[in-house]
Amino acid sequence: MNDVTTNIDKYLEEQSNLDLLRFITCGSVDDGKSTLIGRLLYEAQLIFEDQVAALTNESKRHGSQGGDIDFALLVDGLAAEREQGITIDVAYRFFATDHRKFIVADTPGHEQYTRNMATGASTADAAVILVDATAGALTQTRRHSFICSQLGIRHVALAVNKMDLVDFDKATYDKIVSDYLEFAKPLNFDEISPIPMSALKGDNVVERSEKTPWYTGPTLISYLETVDANQSLIDETFRMPIQWVNRPDRTFRGFAGTVVSGKIARGDEVRVLPSGEVASIQDIILYKDSLEEAVSDQAVTITLDREVDCSRGDVLVASMDPSEVADQFEVNIVWMDQEPGHHGRSYWLKTSTTRVNAILTDLKYKYNVNTMEHLAAPDLALNDIGVATLSVDKPIAFEPYDSNRSMGSFVLIDRYSNATVAAGMINFALRRAKNVHQQKLVVDKAARSVLNNHKSQVLWFTGLSGAGKSAIADALEQKLHARGIRTYILDGDNVRHGLNQDLGFSDNDRIENIRRIAEVAKLMIDAGLVVLTSFISPFRAERDMARQLVGEGEFVEIFVDTPLEEAERRDVKGLYAKARKGELPNFTGIDSPYEAPLNPEVHLHSGEDSIDVCVQQIIDTLDLGN
Ligand code: ADX
Repeated sequence: MNDVTTNIDKYLEEQSNLDLLRFITCGSVDDGKSTLIGRLLYEAQLIFEDQVAALTNESKRHGSQGGDIDFALLVDGLAAEREQGITIDVAYRFFATDHRKFIVADTPGHEQYTRNMATGASTADAAVILVDATAGALTQTRRHSFICSQLGIRHVALAVNKMDLVDFDKATYDKIVSDYLEFAKPLNFDEISPIPMSALKGDNVVERSEKTPWYTGPTLISYLETVDANQSLIDETFRMPIQWVNRPDRTFRGFAGTVVSGKIARGDEVRVLPSGEVASIQDIILYKDSLEEAVSDQAVTITLDREVDCSRGDVLVASMDPSEVADQFEVNIVWMDQEPGHHGRSYWLKTSTTRVNAILTDLKYKYNVNTMEHLAAPDLALNDIGVATLSVDKPIAFEPYDSNRSMGSFVLIDRYSNATVAAGMINFALRRAKNVHQQKLVVDKAARSVLNNHKSQVLWFTGLSGAGKSAIADALEQKLHARGIRTYILDGDNVRHGLNQDLGFSDNDRIENIRRIAEVAKLMIDAGLVVLTSFISPFRAERDMARQLVGEGEFVEIFVDTPLEEAERRDVKGLYAKARKGELPNFTGIDSPYEAPLNPEVHLHSGEDSIDVCVQQIIDTLDLGN
């Protein structure tokens, strides 16, 4: 080997040993983000090439190899989003200087791209927040700063850009900086470094500018080279979510996954969550090699010294310092869908490994992103950032997002469209529920069913106002009663005078109306009754929630299908006429939607068929086990 080659190898090795900083650039559309990224990449490339040129004449060839780039590190943001398989418009760019390697997440600046921004921020260690010196901090800048703080970024360079357009005026700069610092006070940043800059002209990006003699701080690149922002996950406690169980034959059972924090060695004791079972590490396998230990970011397969119940979605943790396990949380949520998030609605909640049912049990407040004020949150609209409580249908292992991003982040998914509607971060578990143990009683549903000589269930009527739900339910109940079946009717018009008299007809109130009815129906099923519910129940999501709440085979969805024109023609209560005149807002079918069932157990054509025919059609499909 000649000298030059040795030196290049040495140089490239040094490069690969450099530590890595991930950062995100945020700004409004015209703040100069692309120019800045372009300049960073260009100037860094120059530095890089200078270095290589000093070692060899072949600088170009080696320079373009980029110094042993570990492309595996170019992972997309929110792990759960990645699993969900949606495309996120974030470009990750790589560059390096003598001191550090960098991955910069470049996200589009428009308001509708909050999702991209949140995704980019979720893996970033630092943020460069761009402000146009001629415009000052805009709503977008504030929103982005806020999202950065929510997603755990603690280090910020406030790049006051386009200083050339304000003649490098110190007073203009000082004003923008002090306004921003005031705004950012309540955000949890450890440190904010303001830098007067011109990305276009290059002032204070890589080269110190002569036009800002009054500025003594670092250039942007030296800030990025020195900011101490790497979260050392290796020092944290061991956590490894199981991605899949590898079982090629009866003799081998390996648990594959990526160590998200800490490290583990052969012989260490681990705990499987949520079950809590304990075992010791027998082997750590990477491809075909057996390792002594594995550290964070490594994807390995682990075998244990004894049979434990452990499957995809479970988490292996250090046995003496396990994660928490809970089923109710306070969370921060960034809403990313056109359709708002409603209190009481249920969604799929997906973490990086597991998917469970979740209900937004309370929307506590949302933020005014300009003032940090807490606003009442009847719902969460596109781009809203709020605090909510969530309950999931089975306990999951988690860490607060603050201490472990992988174990503390999740997305919410719409059950029908399968779209990701929100990104969330767990603040803490709500423990209170743990002390409320369900009382196990001796006389149960099965015992009551034997006494009644029939099964209990809910017959869930849904359809437009005036479709005939109540009339059909009434006639059906008489027949069932005559046959000795214990029944009860829950009817919209009646229940809204009592239990639900506090509710109106907004989307949120209807959701809450149906949630309560579903809970009452569940109690009545437990009491041994055949419950007939007669509510418009216009939303699929809530009917589906009711279906999930009760047992398999206990939910009979009956679609009372009368065309709107027919219901309106009948107009038994005169409500359609009023609604048409604008005297009854949010009227179903007029200015509030009705989502017809996709797959009801019974589909009645009550516009054409008589009540008797409809009742008979239901009776023909009923299975009361008697
Ligand atoms: S639901 O949408 O929440 O399921 P529910 O069945 O309880 O509605 O109540 C519907 C009944 O309330 C209707 O049959 C009608 O008599 C009355 N009503 C009053 N205002 C409205 C409205 N804006 N939309 C629909 N129904 C209304």
